[in-house]
Amino acid sequence: MCNQVLVAYATKYGGTAEIAEKIGQVLRQAGLRTDVLPANRVGNLTSYRAVVLGSAVYIGKWHKDAVKFLTANEKTLTERQVWLFSSGPTGEGYVVELLKGWCFPEAQQPIADRIQPRDIAVFHGNVNMKKLNFIEKWMLKNVQAPLGDFRDWESITSWATAIAVVLKEKDLASGTLSEQ
Ligand SMILES: Cc1cc2nc3c(=O)[nH]c(=O)nc-3n(C[C@H](O)[C@H](O)[C@H](O)COP(=O)(O)O)c2cc1C
Repeated sequence: MCNQVLVAYATKYGGTAEIAEKIGQVLRQAGLRTDVLPANRVGNLTSYRAVVLGSAVYIGKWHKDAVKFLTANEKTLTERQVWLFSSGPTGEGYVVELLKGWCFPEAQQPIADRIQPRDIAVFHGNVNMKKLNFIEKWMLKNVQAPLGDFRDWESITSWATAIAVVLKEKDLASGTLSEQ
């Protein structure tokens, strides 16, 4: 196993990719060698000691690329330090309240239970009506979802910083500080 960190993401309209890039930026600034890649373009995980996986949420479900990644790599992920995040809810306020208790897709919960991630986060999302197809617009109108970019860069940065702290502590403990 090598010393790199992977931030993998699954997105439909790019909002989650930007969150993943931000997380990658914070980890790199902390001196951690970090790759940020779409989940469907990740080869094997041999080079990575830690994996952050994020997905956009559509109708309560993770994007298929994140589901495939999680399913295909379950065994390896149990041997890595893993952080998971979803990006979705729009509107002001706490994500847990906006999502009425939803914090991870039910279908993938058994895998998450086996992988034992260090943390599972949910971040606010971004809805750009100009990008949506007719059916998506209709669905959002029906549920009166707030429209706009509600991504909270401060909370994303704090979460990523906490990940960096954990990984750097491990480096210090093992005497293998990995510079970018
Ligand atoms: C048709 C549709 C359904 C959505 N369903 C959910 C949902 O169930 N839960 C949620 O939190 N966000 C939902 N969202 C909001 C998206 O998750 C949010 O826009 C996210 O930032 C999109 O990420 P992406 O740009 O990476 O694809 C939905 C958005 C659309 C257009």
